[in-house]
Amino acid sequence: MQQRPRRNRKSAAIRNMIAETHLTVENLIYPFFVEDGKGVKTEISSLPNNFRWSIDTLLPEMEACIKLGLNAFVLFPKVKDELKDKTGTYGFSEKNYYLEIAKTVKKEFPHICLMSDVALDPYSIDGHDGIVRNGEIVNDETLDVLVKMSVAQAQAGFDIIGPSDMMDGRVGVIRDALDDYGCTNTSIMSYTAKYASAFYGPFRDALDSAPKADGTEEIPKDKKTYQMNPANVKEAVREAYLDENEGADFMMVKPALCYLDVIKTLSEISTLPISAYNVSGEYAMLMAACKNGWLNFETAMPEMLLSIKRAGATSILTYFAKAYAELVRK
Ligand code: PBG
Repeated sequence: MQQRPRRNRKSAAIRNMIAETHLTVENLIYPFFVEDGKGVKTEISSLPNNFRWSIDTLLPEMEACIKLGLNAFVLFPKVKDELKDKTGTYGFSEKNYYLEIAKTVKKEFPHICLMSDVALDPYSIDGHDGIVRNGEIVNDETLDVLVKMSVAQAQAGFDIIGPSDMMDGRVGVIRDALDDYGCTNTSIMSYTAKYASAFYGPFRDALDSAPKADGTEEIPKDKKTYQMNPANVKEAVREAYLDENEGADFMMVKPALCYLDVIKTLSEISTLPISAYNVSGEYAMLMAACKNGWLNFETAMPEMLLSIKRAGATSILTYFAKAYAELVRK
């Protein structure tokens, strides 16, 4: 036999020497759910080891994560029902506690990269990412709200604005508005290819943000008129070209594991860094299998993250970030 590929696998030294993909803690973005109040640390039952935090409990937790080498974080707000309305006005209100939290976090840890979420769903009584009118999620009116939210977030100190709403044209209008308000250094990570996926369930539990009817009008039960069809990849390329032209700095593919081909495709056609969102349902799935003893967490979790990196993601937004950092430390 002239060719024996196994020779290149004969020792750890050789295997490591020729490893094609490396995942570092610096590649990871760690999400935190936040809520208004004091002394809050509420575990999300469908997302074990993930909590909703108030600012006083969040700061020490973030500090611990920073000590582990994590430097990029995203915040998702839970909003009290009485503050929700049809057009998500609390999202850009001066009283919005989410903006206060961002200010405090950036004051405490100026060197970290803090990313926001831009969409109406945490603030909307309908639980949709845009304004609902006569059973339709209206695009252009929603843009006005997204722009106001984005400017307010940039002014609060977020380093990266993360529009996750999938409205047409939002990256361009957000970029223009940020520049008009002097926030030329604030970046945009567009959720470029966000699919109408079944894997967002635990996230919607965490924020109580699932689409729901209040009895006054017909509310679509799913997000299929704005999030993408899981069958499509060319459509992701179309979205990618639009986002590039509209001034996005990074592009996100979401979810990650069922969409590795989409990550690969976008990483090949674009010069922008591609981020992948390893979503709540993907996290829950692995955690449940590990809890049952069906999979081994310490080997299965890094393999999952590595596969996303290998597909072409330069960074990964994942609920596993802290666990991965702890594993590396060990
Ligand atoms: C909402 C938003 C969602 C997620 C991130 N931002 C839910 C949705 O689109 O319904 C899901 C993330 C996850 O499941 O981890 N704009």
